Amino acid sequence: MTKDEQKILAASTAIDTLISEKKIFSGMKIGLGTGSTALPAVKRLSERICDGTLQNIKAVVTSFQTENYCKELGIPVFTLNDREIGGELDLTIDGADEIDGENNLIKGGGAALLLEKIVAYNSKAYAIVADESKSVKTVGTKFPLPVEIIGSARICVEKALNKLGAKCVLREGVRKCGPVITDNGNQILDCLWENPVDAREMEDKISKIVGVVEVGFFTKLKPVVFIAKSDGSVEIR
Ligand code: A5P
Repeated sequence: MTKDEQKILAASTAIDTLISEKKIFSGMKIGLGTGSTALPAVKRLSERICDGTLQNIKAVVTSFQTENYCKELGIPVFTLNDREIGGELDLTIDGADEIDGENNLIKGGGAALLLEKIVAYNSKAYAIVADESKSVKTVGTKFPLPVEIIGSARICVEKALNKLGAKCVLREGVRKCGPVITDNGNQILDCLWENPVDAREMEDKISKIVGVVEVGFFTKLKPVVFIAKSDGSVEIR
């Protein structure tokens, strides 16, 4: 199976399994992630709405990308602040950039980490869908950790991250001059360590740097992870 086929398989298996285990059911408030694996999950969710399995699903999205897709598919979109949602979600489903053996994650490859973390950390349950390339022994040494920052504090934040051992690169736009500007008007530093770091400890340390808006380590939740493999199997852990 190609990587794209694995993404679709992981996404469909996750939605169908969670429905059959009654962890997704009618009336739920669901957080929807961003990226090329989260979107097939949104698609599968809409198919299960269209076939009548699910009714009255309320979605909270994590990016303009997912908002546009939900609107295209006819899935009703709310914000966490809406009365119908009341700041709490039943489940969030999302992709990830790296997943270690303890289901610690790196997220933010699509620069949507801030809303993704807000939604995930305010959900009763959390599910991650991924192809097998996302599974790693240690997070943070291969895929650069995205850190969302206030642009005017870039140099100060970069110096503080250097002190924590990270080498940082400001993420540049594609077909746009200058840095990537996130959906929230901020910028992204992509950070890499030469040697493995304690992701849990580093999430806390980076969060405390003034000028950091959010960090792409997600270590406080233990999501159920659906990893599709090239042989067509799906590991659930
Ligand atoms: C978006 O900012 C990210 O957190 C994505 O969830 C992550 O980058 C995974 O994206 P893909 O599924 O496109 O690899």
